[in-house]
Amino acid sequence: MAVIIDEQRRIFTLHTQNSTYQMKADAQNVLLHTYYGEKTDNSDKSLLYYQTDRGFSGNPYEMGRIDRTYSMDSLLQEYSSFGTGDYRITSLKVENKDGSQAAELRYAGYRLHQGKYFIPGMPAVYAENGEAQTLMIRLADPYSGLKVELYYGILEETDIITRAVKITNQGTEDIVLKKAASMNLDWEYGEFEWISFYGRHGMELNFQRERIHHGIQAVGSVRGTSSHQYNPFAILCEKGADEKMGSCYGFSFVYSGEFLMEAEKDQIDRTRLICGIHPDNFSWTLHGGDTFWTPEVMMTHSGSGLGKVSRNFHKVIREHICRGGWKEKQRPVLINNWEATYFDFTGEKLVAIAKEAKKQGVELFVMDDGWYGKREDDSTGLGDWFPNEKKLGCTLKELAERITAEGMQFGIWLEPEGISEDSDLYRCHPDWAVAVPGRKPCLSRGELILDFSREDVQDYIIKRIAELLGGIPVTYVKWDCNRAICDKFSRMLDGSRQGEFSHRYVLGLYRVLEELTEKFPEILFEGCGGGGGRFDAGLLYYMPQIWGSDTTDAIERLSIQYGASFGYPVSVMGTHVSTVPNHQTGRVTPLATRGCMAMAGTFGYELDIGKLTQEEKTEIREQINLFKKHYNLIQHGDYYRISSPYEGTCTVWEIADPSGREVLISAVYHHVQANPVPVRVKVQGLKDEAGYQLFLNEDFNEKYPGKRLPFGFRPGEVISGAALRQFGFVVPEAVNGFQAWQIYMKECPYPCE
Ligand code: GLA
Repeated sequence: MAVIIDEQRRIFTLHTQNSTYQMKADAQNVLLHTYYGEKTDNSDKSLLYYQTDRGFSGNPYEMGRIDRTYSMDSLLQEYSSFGTGDYRITSLKVENKDGSQAAELRYAGYRLHQGKYFIPGMPAVYAENGEAQTLMIRLADPYSGLKVELYYGILEETDIITRAVKITNQGTEDIVLKKAASMNLDWEYGEFEWISFYGRHGMELNFQRERIHHGIQAVGSVRGTSSHQYNPFAILCEKGADEKMGSCYGFSFVYSGEFLMEAEKDQIDRTRLICGIHPDNFSWTLHGGDTFWTPEVMMTHSGSGLGKVSRNFHKVIREHICRGGWKEKQRPVLINNWEATYFDFTGEKLVAIAKEAKKQGVELFVMDDGWYGKREDDSTGLGDWFPNEKKLGCTLKELAERITAEGMQFGIWLEPEGISEDSDLYRCHPDWAVAVPGRKPCLSRGELILDFSREDVQDYIIKRIAELLGGIPVTYVKWDCNRAICDKFSRMLDGSRQGEFSHRYVLGLYRVLEELTEKFPEILFEGCGGGGGRFDAGLLYYMPQIWGSDTTDAIERLSIQYGASFGYPVSVMGTHVSTVPNHQTGRVTPLATRGCMAMAGTFGYELDIGKLTQEEKTEIREQINLFKKHYNLIQHGDYYRISSPYEGTCTVWEIADPSGREVLISAVYHHVQANPVPVRVKVQGLKDEAGYQLFLNEDFNEKYPGKRLPFGFRPGEVISGAALRQFGFVVPEAVNGFQAWQIYMKECPYPCE
């Protein structure tokens, strides 16, 4: 049983395979947080806590004369509220009818059931009945009609606990939510570090690790989307924790809109972490009887370092967030024409690119931006989702059929949330674009954004896109969103409810995605937000992959994909091989290196293969074969970060078959040195007692029979798993700049004949 409830002492203990989480309703009916960490027993952890009188930290009225050590300002709470004696960051802030901002949450019961709760209209972890349990704990404010239900989904096998909150106004007077976080987590003691991922367009998901200091640290987005600037994923770990050691907590927000993740170390060195919708752009009015659901947060704890946190998230995202046929099905190797042509193409040119790619083994052709309306550059046409037949030289259906007749699947780029002022859609419905009446809206990439909080706009987009997709043989859609949102205002909301805009926008987007993905289950949808501007677990519920960044430079991608690997599996990371010099950086890297980077993701191409030499075409054919050969290992294997792009000379990562039969190690030199220091890799995930053969860049052994491998031993020699784990091997040196090596290890009979 994952959930153990001590009815008498009102203790709730949640167990996963390797972690335990505990809460307790105390004598004052406050729901205390008592433990989260390594797996332990069901005993009452609150007995070990130390409370004393902290001057200027007041006491709830009923305790003030009896016990001055009892203070909301220092108690470890499960869901804290603003205005009634807790001066730290809090998870809930309401405004009552009389203007007061007070709420007191007291325990009012629980419910336990088999299976995982779901959240209406929003993405959430899903699981079969046997795989999850749901615990709901009810809190209520004794002075108002406020009811707060804390939901916990426990996925025992996966070491994941999810949280979401359902807030109901049971009274008759309006209550306005000013802040409604999805989770609150308190630690009584500990020196923590906080790992977050910041960035910008073209350079997302940079790793940042800081000490948790006194005061408040936060990352978040007020940009309408989860954003390039901060990813809604963070790790809190004990000081000094590394990939293999130390207590680490991971938090992934299953949401594609504005968020805030904040941490505070308080006056007595207790740490609190809160995650939820960003309160700056948020308020939500609950009339009597109304209910509000927060988005979900996934949490995990690892007692054995950061690597395990990542592998837990990889598994839960692959198996319990991604849905639909493409969750399991092998995804096609694609070619996208964006960097090959930008807006400058004709139907003929696209067919030529597709034909050439097909010859090398590519399976899907994706037509990117520029095929519709009056779209010759990025300033016009968005919203007019009707093909530009003059430019294509034929109808869209004919073009798609020409490409499919070549034996290629056909895919298409869309940006359904965008609208250009110079578009027929805007001329018909100027009020559909987000703007504050009487003010000029902010343009971004020359475009405006459709008001997806409106039902009529959602209906129109669903209908138009469904008609478009229904009329052509299409198996892939890239769903882009190329701007952040500001001037937040919806003509459909009255003045007092404009604070609901941002969240309603995201709910509208989710409705559109739900309906379209349900209508076209055979289509593979790839998310995109000008690259990684909406790279979050929420979007992955509708689309099993997301374009990682508009930067395709293999070396820049090292840090982007390194950052992503902390919270997201390889199978969701959109990556392509592009041309050199790279269009974003001007850097020249070997084709093998670009291939190696793209294989740490969904794998595809974004260049005109027709312009390459015969040698390069052959190399591409070999890359595709290699990727397909190792598809299952790459997409479903256990991921280990061996070294970081921020240190040393070589970034190394490893993907191991969970049963330890095979391993693929990728090593990319980001810095080339004279007389270099050896890069040693201690392999993880192998079976100690088994023997392994090593293959360098797959065909090295066949191409150079009998030649000594650069790491010392000869092809065919067998090394024990224990030796590879304990002693490791040295990555071959770089013989040219930015060189990549792919080292494949396969179990073989040992000792070998
Ligand atoms: C965004 C995407 C690119 C490309 C362009 C087209 O920037 O991230 O991959 O599709 O839009 O305008």
